[in-house]
Amino acid sequence: MKHIVIVATGGTIAGIGEKGKTVAYHAGEISIDDILVSIPNVKNVAELEIVQFMNVDSNEMNIDTWIALSNTINDIIIRDDVDGIVVTHGTDTIEETAYFLNLTIGSNKPIVLTGAMRPATATSADGPYNLYQAIALAANEEAVGQGVMVLFSNTIYSGRDIQKVNNYKIDAFDQKSFGCLGYMQDEKAYFFSKTFKTHTYLSRFAGKLDVLANVAIAYYYAGADSDILKYLSQHHQGIIIVGSGNGNYSKEWMRMINYCYEEYGTIFVRASRVPLGIVFSDHVFDPNEYCIASNTLSGQKARILLSLALSKTKDIQEIKEVFNQY
Ligand code: SIN
Repeated sequence: MKHIVIVATGGTIAGIGEKGKTVAYHAGEISIDDILVSIPNVKNVAELEIVQFMNVDSNEMNIDTWIALSNTINDIIIRDDVDGIVVTHGTDTIEETAYFLNLTIGSNKPIVLTGAMRPATATSADGPYNLYQAIALAANEEAVGQGVMVLFSNTIYSGRDIQKVNNYKIDAFDQKSFGCLGYMQDEKAYFFSKTFKTHTYLSRFAGKLDVLANVAIAYYYAGADSDILKYLSQHHQGIIIVGSGNGNYSKEWMRMINYCYEEYGTIFVRASRVPLGIVFSDHVFDPNEYCIASNTLSGQKARILLSLALSKTKDIQEIKEVFNQY
């Protein structure tokens, strides 16, 4: 039987509130052992080891907790007796943690994140079944080498492309244009696609981490004040612009981007506030080529990649290549 380590971090899956209700609960309250009590048949799927890493609402996650989590998982995953890892996590930032781990875990063993939209005390809580399927997926041979995955609502998503698309329904996630990696029927996995983007054991960012570059996100809207870019440049090494359309912005923002790049050496990436499509380089909005295109990464995922890239290099051409590869 496969040996799977569950690294628990909290979230709604560990949330409690008024019995039977789905609202006004507190995330990250009960232990992973208490959740496992409700899925006794998981013992037939894998042998389990538990690490209660933290127990928080995932809005408490930040670069420091990601680094600590990644270093812990890198230590566990190299053990010969460990076949895979499941991380339980809040759904609000699960897509960010999944992408961070996808870039920093140096192993091809399965790593699966999961969570829940309903707290453990709700009628028909979705957490136990998601956890059951996540454990089964982590124990599945076909999951080896797929990169970090997220299992949610019978669906297997890639850590790179998953995005929360519904803040209410239990089927809360999607991979935008890229569908999903596959589906699960109870403990059986059915894979149909895989990512071409570099991840985990092939990633140049895999391994022990210390500090990362400080990167901010600036959201563009009609008439947005460009002074925000100057302020952020004084406190950050990189800025992700979540622009309109193809990552676009006003002429005032264009002038401020040029100024901040030349004055502070700020590295800019253009992402888009539009959920579908791809952001390419654009010589009209970025005539000096100071802005790197995020391709299909959302602003919050581009921020993670730029933080990691800036911890290796300040060379804008090299960082452009990173955005094409990851
Ligand atoms: C959280 O992200 O910790 C709270 C929301 C959730 O898990 O659904």
